[in-house]
Amino acid sequence: MAVPKSLKANPLIVGLDVDTRERALRLVQELSDQVGAFKIGPRLIHRYGESLVRDIAGQAPVFVDCKFFDIPSTMVAAVKASFDSGATLVTVHAQAGREALAELAKLEKSLNQDRPFQILCVTMLTSFSPETLPPVLKSQSIREHVKSLANLVKDSGLTGIVCSGEELVDLQGQGFYLVTPGIRLPLEKAGDQKRVMGPAEALAQGASALVVARPIIEATNPRKAAQEYAVEILKQQK
Ligand code: C5P
Repeated sequence: MAVPKSLKANPLIVGLDVDTRERALRLVQELSDQVGAFKIGPRLIHRYGESLVRDIAGQAPVFVDCKFFDIPSTMVAAVKASFDSGATLVTVHAQAGREALAELAKLEKSLNQDRPFQILCVTMLTSFSPETLPPVLKSQSIREHVKSLANLVKDSGLTGIVCSGEELVDLQGQGFYLVTPGIRLPLEKAGDQKRVMGPAEALAQGASALVVARPIIEATNPRKAAQEYAVEILKQQK
């Protein structure tokens, strides 16, 4: 529903995919003037919980990426707990269905009375390729799944979506806030990501924000790596 101005100005979200609080906070300190938000997921949340979200939120918006997928009341409670600990963006699975998403839309609206807060609905993980899709999902292409999940998100009253670069073309221009992981500069390794795209291309195709983790946090000089992304992003914003 709403993201902070700092994230609108700088759409680079750095994924803190590390295991220790010290390493996470060092990256935050090193990069906070280079990025729009930091993303933390279960590997840090399960170790350090609310206190780490709070510490990072004191320096930059925090994206809690735990991809909640549960019954509606449990999802609502989990998203509310993330908000209370200081998160600005939170992921849930779009596949949780209409009832859960509609409840979450109500929650998002009420939390935005307090401060900008955006729920992001994960469509299909960017590590899936047509070959690795779970058998139960093989009846449709990834693009078709993403399009129908995006329609479900919209009908439920939410606007935030996580999708790969390849699906941006189908979702752009419809009022969604589109967050795209699987972003790489030309010579970088894809790792386990199957559907990757460059930052400028993803923004040109309608991405609202980009998530980058390993190419920045595992670089010998993370600050320099983040700056390389910033240059590409600025080129596209001009
Ligand atoms: O290291 P890399 O840039 O591939 O990391 C991407 C980050 O985005 C990871 O933290 C991953 O969990 C997250 N993510 C993703 N695909 C999604 C949703 C989140 O890769 N659909």
